[in-house]
Amino acid sequence: MLEVASRAQNFLNVDLVLVDGQFDSKWIKAQLEPCLIHDQRGFGFVASGRLLRPDWKKFARRVVKAGRKTEGLLRALKLSPQSSVVDATAGLGVDSLLMASTGAQVTMIERHPVLALLLSDQLQQIEQEANWRSIAPRLSLTHSDAVTAFDQLQGQPVDVVYLDPMFETGSYRAKVSGNMQLLHKFSEPPSEDEQHALLKSAMQLANKVVVKRAAGAPPLAGETPQAVSTGDSVRYDIYTLYRSVSV
Ligand SMILES: C[S@@+](CC[C@H](N)C(=O)[O-])C[C@H]1O[C@@H](n2cnc3c(N)ncnc32)[C@H](O)[C@@H]1O
Repeated sequence: MLEVASRAQNFLNVDLVLVDGQFDSKWIKAQLEPCLIHDQRGFGFVASGRLLRPDWKKFARRVVKAGRKTEGLLRALKLSPQSSVVDATAGLGVDSLLMASTGAQVTMIERHPVLALLLSDQLQQIEQEANWRSIAPRLSLTHSDAVTAFDQLQGQPVDVVYLDPMFETGSYRAKVSGNMQLLHKFSEPPSEDEQHALLKSAMQLANKVVVKRAAGAPPLAGETPQAVSTGDSVRYDIYTLYRSVSV
């Protein structure tokens, strides 16, 4: 874990602050420079007066109740306990937790070193919690760019690839959470070339690719999906007949 932390620290050229005991929002706002922190709840990243920390334990209720009725993501993915899914843009890992709640095996891929550190820390924490005993073994994490990781996964059984690249900042309908505002500091929406590369390589890996888009946004790489599953503020574009796609 310390190796991952020092990789993230060097990447951003920021301090790692070890916090002994509690801190509050006043302390967070007083940090003038971005920094990685470590306290009794694990790693976090502080910048612009905000703390970025996935805090998976807060999602326990939602994960326990998750099903196709309550989660648009699960309606679109249609996973079973036998499924193997790759969450290629894992971010804070919330969607991965929902996927793992179905019994499916979930491979998380995240390219940003800070997010990879935060995910790896959360994973390590839930591995030690009795309440998460059934979910934790279904999750694994790879710190890599998705396209590179897809090459390494070739030949392994992958039923679905899920892509949730950053939305354009103006495309959110619902209020954006503090975590998501900070995520935008790390990650840009993909360029056209990146969109084509992501979709094409995802389709070479699995027969089903599901892409989360902001409602009203054009499809990834301009490629029309075979089916669409709509939610309140987001849309899931579903690609299944990969041979007909010419990205
Ligand atoms: C919108 S967030 C994903 C949020 C996630 N679905 C969740 O539940 O928290 C997008 C994430 O994808 C990552 N990302 C974007 N392009 C990527 C790529 N080509 N390979 C790996 N990760 C990527 C970004 O660093 C960012 O953390």
